[in-house]
Amino acid sequence: TASPAAARRLLDWYDRHHRDLPWRVSPADLAKGVRPDPYHVWLSEVMLQQTTVEAVKPYFLAFLARWPAVEDLAAAPAEEVMRAWAGLGYYSRARNLKACADKVASLPDGFPDTEDGLRALPGIGAYTAAAIAAIAFGRPAAVVDGNVERVTARLFAIETPLPEAKRPIRAAVETLVPIDRPGDFAQAMMDLGATICTPKRPRCMLCPLKADCRAIVTGDPERLPLRAPK
Ligand code: ADE
Repeated sequence: TASPAAARRLLDWYDRHHRDLPWRVSPADLAKGVRPDPYHVWLSEVMLQQTTVEAVKPYFLAFLARWPAVEDLAAAPAEEVMRAWAGLGYYSRARNLKACADKVASLPDGFPDTEDGLRALPGIGAYTAAAIAAIAFGRPAAVVDGNVERVTARLFAIETPLPEAKRPIRAAVETLVPIDRPGDFAQAMMDLGATICTPKRPRCMLCPLKADCRAIVTGDPERLPLRAPK
């Protein structure tokens, strides 16, 4: 069953196969001491809620070109931010984005560096707080989105259906988070779910966790996670 050694295998895979995304600091640069910018991590995570990586890329770059720091976004008129957001959808996210930028720009130390501090900001829920805490600040937070739920349900052969499975899935992820690289671990789980441990026809032969996966040995990993009938 999956263990800290499995997390290490996943990180080794991520070092070689991570997606190069404009909001990421590569594992090699992180090892050199480059720190991710919390503004970049926050902006990307808010944009990535309910929007695909490919759709987010040009918006993320356009926002950064126009508003290079959170203070710039705070100084911008709300209508301009809404206009720049047009096309990404879910406009409540853009309103919260602006409210959050205003709040953070008023704080002497900028973005809070804990999950609890981040949770208190407009538009930042459990997922986003954990993602920023892990990726930007190296906190050992369990970052659980839909991809991570699927990977974990398979890895541990969790037969409880979603949404009831959310709690045991979170508990299972918590046993894996490596304290030295929590942000890379979170993004490695996301990349694995996006590229290998896909909803349909997972590419198990390429998976760095195939020796650890309790769903592979059943012969039908695609079956998991189960979902309770509506
Ligand atoms: N989806 C949400 N956050 C992500 C990230 N940091 N990398 C890739 N996909 C993501």
